[in-house]
Amino acid sequence: MSQNLRIPGPTPIPPQVAEALGRPMINHRGPEFAALLGRVTEQLQYFFQTTNRILTFPSSGSGGWEATVVNLFNPGDAVLAAPIGVFGDRFAKVGETFGLNVTRVETEWGQANDPQAVVEALSRLPEAKGVFLTQNETSTGVMNDIQALATAIRGVRPDILICVDAVSSLSCVDLQMDAWDLDIVLTGSQKGWMVPPGLAMIGVSERAWKAHEQSRMPRFYWDFTRVARTADKGQTPYTPPVNLFFGLDVALAMMREEGREAIFARHQRCAELTRERAVAMGLELYANPAVASNTVTAIKTPEDIGAKAITKALREREGVVIAGGQERLDGRIIRVGHLGYVHEPEMTACMDALERQLQALGYQSPASVRG
Ligand SMILES: Cc1ncc(COP(=O)(O)O)c(C=O)c1O
Repeated sequence: MSQNLRIPGPTPIPPQVAEALGRPMINHRGPEFAALLGRVTEQLQYFFQTTNRILTFPSSGSGGWEATVVNLFNPGDAVLAAPIGVFGDRFAKVGETFGLNVTRVETEWGQANDPQAVVEALSRLPEAKGVFLTQNETSTGVMNDIQALATAIRGVRPDILICVDAVSSLSCVDLQMDAWDLDIVLTGSQKGWMVPPGLAMIGVSERAWKAHEQSRMPRFYWDFTRVARTADKGQTPYTPPVNLFFGLDVALAMMREEGREAIFARHQRCAELTRERAVAMGLELYANPAVASNTVTAIKTPEDIGAKAITKALREREGVVIAGGQERLDGRIIRVGHLGYVHEPEMTACMDALERQLQALGYQSPASVRG
């Protein structure tokens, strides 16, 4: 049985991309790779909505956090982190690991950042050099309003470094790096980009480059200057994951053909379908519905049926693979991914399967109990 892979990344690969991934190897220091790198970078700029440089690293998304910290900051620098779940918290921890003085704005999980709370926290931290934000918190299924946050932050701190983790959202929902004046935007290939894991992509603003020049943090692999200088020659400093570039090139061409706004609309439709079906089953969304994500839906598990029983039944009886909760949400929620190569039929099939298996596990929706 072919799997309906509905975790929030890695995501399914379109057949055209799968074909490209298997192409014969080329010289990564030759003209074909130079052309490929140039083409991919230009297409990425379209999706980041920026004219800034975009650097690529052979890495998962987490490398983007480390690259941000070691390239822009110095040990002892104050930053404000605004985590709303597991991934935002890890971004903050990476800062702490490298000796940054991290202050957290606390937000209840399931909610988005309140721009006013972030501004108030900044007013108590005048020395802050950067802010760490997450556009889409994959662990809670919450989407932040980055435009509103950036506008509020710039209102009080015009020159602060705004660093945005857009790992599980970029290319699926709107993010305008230039218009919203963001300094770092980082993402990973295995989410909305429809390619396997292994490539981190990072947009770097002029302000971020200036901070980079002042940063004395030890770095080698992640050094922006080395990557940028080599990119000018159509290369990467170390061996790139050539096949992932083949795949990304094809995926980006498919995405251009579909169109940015059409992709955003498709993600919104798939997300709405998923949320509506969950609510119709009598299930409760974990995220505040007003800020629910368009790429992943977190659903509270019925009290008497554990998340593990649901994910197991779906996987074994339906060939549908969804995710459970992480850390403090382990066992309390299930998460359904709808990002990248996804259309309504896969989401309908996933939610049909969920309904069947919940019934098989003895679930009675509150409506049916009342009725
Ligand atoms: C929002 C967010 N940030 C960062 C990461 C870390 O990315 P990776 O697992 O590719 O290192 C993830 C992974 O799921 C994520 O969802």
